[in-house]
Amino acid sequence: YFIGIDVGTSATKLLLMDEGGGVRSVVSRRYSTAMPQPGWSEQNPDDWWDAVCNGIPELLEGVDASQVAGIGCCGQMHGLVTLDARDRVIRPAILWNDSRSRYQVGCLNRDIGREAIARYTGNVAYVGFTAPKLLWLREEEPEHFSAIRKIMLPKDYITFRLTGEYVTDYSDASGTLLLDVRNRCWSKHMLGLCGLWRAKMPRLCESWEEVGTLLPEVADRLGLPRTVRVCAGAGDNASAAVGAGAVGEGSCNIVLGTAGTILMNMASYHEDKDNKLHCFCNAEGGWNLMGCILTAAGCNEWWMGNVLQTEDYTAEQGAISLAALGQNDVFFLPYLMGERTPHNDPRARGAFVGMRATSTRADLTQAVLEGVAFALRDCACIAREEELDVSSSTICGGGARSRLWLSIISDVLGIPLRITQTEQAPAMGAAMLASVCCGAYGDVAQCARALVHTKGTVEPNREVVSLYNGRYDTWRRIYPALRGVFQ
Ligand code: XUL
Repeated sequence: YFIGIDVGTSATKLLLMDEGGGVRSVVSRRYSTAMPQPGWSEQNPDDWWDAVCNGIPELLEGVDASQVAGIGCCGQMHGLVTLDARDRVIRPAILWNDSRSRYQVGCLNRDIGREAIARYTGNVAYVGFTAPKLLWLREEEPEHFSAIRKIMLPKDYITFRLTGEYVTDYSDASGTLLLDVRNRCWSKHMLGLCGLWRAKMPRLCESWEEVGTLLPEVADRLGLPRTVRVCAGAGDNASAAVGAGAVGEGSCNIVLGTAGTILMNMASYHEDKDNKLHCFCNAEGGWNLMGCILTAAGCNEWWMGNVLQTEDYTAEQGAISLAALGQNDVFFLPYLMGERTPHNDPRARGAFVGMRATSTRADLTQAVLEGVAFALRDCACIAREEELDVSSSTICGGGARSRLWLSIISDVLGIPLRITQTEQAPAMGAAMLASVCCGAYGDVAQCARALVHTKGTVEPNREVVSLYNGRYDTWRRIYPALRGVFQ
């Protein structure tokens, strides 16, 4: 067996995969996110570790734990985890959806300059990325900054607790803005700008490479063999692509998680011309371009939980008829936490536009689902301008459970969507990386070809596609019109 661990934003998901790619069990342990000030978003790394320790016994119930050969971790990208000289966590991790570093992003993109930052890293600065958070820490909490002995990313903290090794992988390191993505090494320019040096950074590995075996006391505590091998793992999006079978040049995967991403794999390095897409290493030794919308399934959760105060997604979405797709008066901007692609604007906010006296609750629910789909189309349009192939995609993540939402996305993007066998594609990908690490397959692509099957395809409906083409043209005029209103 192989265990995949996904250190997510709302929960840590654990997945047990057998040698044939069968998902034997999935366990999820939720935790909360602290938002101590507007725009801040923090979690305690020990909550992730507790989730792993509490979840593994349940994951292994009824199976012979001595047959577990490997573990791979993946997780939310960009989060800043800081350890002191005694390996203690210095302060809560600052997450990918935290926007406190607005000023520092301005300094990087304006004063140092977007071109220079892109030359060093392949990307421009975003508030969610790790380097601006380090600059914030150096300015606002200097005592914490000077206590740092190692920095790492969320899933690396779990790998560290499992093995005692300070390691990250190229895909996750790409989102730090400290990696020279083209050359797969830490950027000395960026480390210098952030007051860091190489000794403070985790060691870089390919995702499937072995980091080490379990620490004996950890193996005993978790009831696992001491020989279990742990691989370097990947950022959640790169891992999801593996778990969805989206490997090799031209493959595309969409994650409909708290955030939403559309990721296009490339065998060789390529940046889009305005650096609107993230240019990252992938988990199979190549690269990808990725659009990221900060609130995707998170919009629907907000709408259902905070506003409608219901958990009955089926009933709410059941009120929307497929015949009504493409003809809703109401529009929704999904920028509840600001937006990355394509606006790079932490001030952007959500909005409903276009209601009439006759608009219903179902119209607004539909608008939320459509607004997220339009935001994904913004990302796909940039990729298409770069002549990347976005003619079909796999799709995974919690939001992909909704058949209605899949139809909307398929119609808005105008492409068929293949549904992955497990919505937990990131954890599945991490388990697959562990299987490659243990020698079950020669490389990641071979592993994906052998193990991943899709469980159906949603085809776009031509008439609805053309209706949505028109609506998208209107929708994309809303953000420029409202930009001045957002504070
Ligand atoms: C990607 C991103 C999110 C997080 C959380 O750049 O910020 O997808 O990885 O899942």
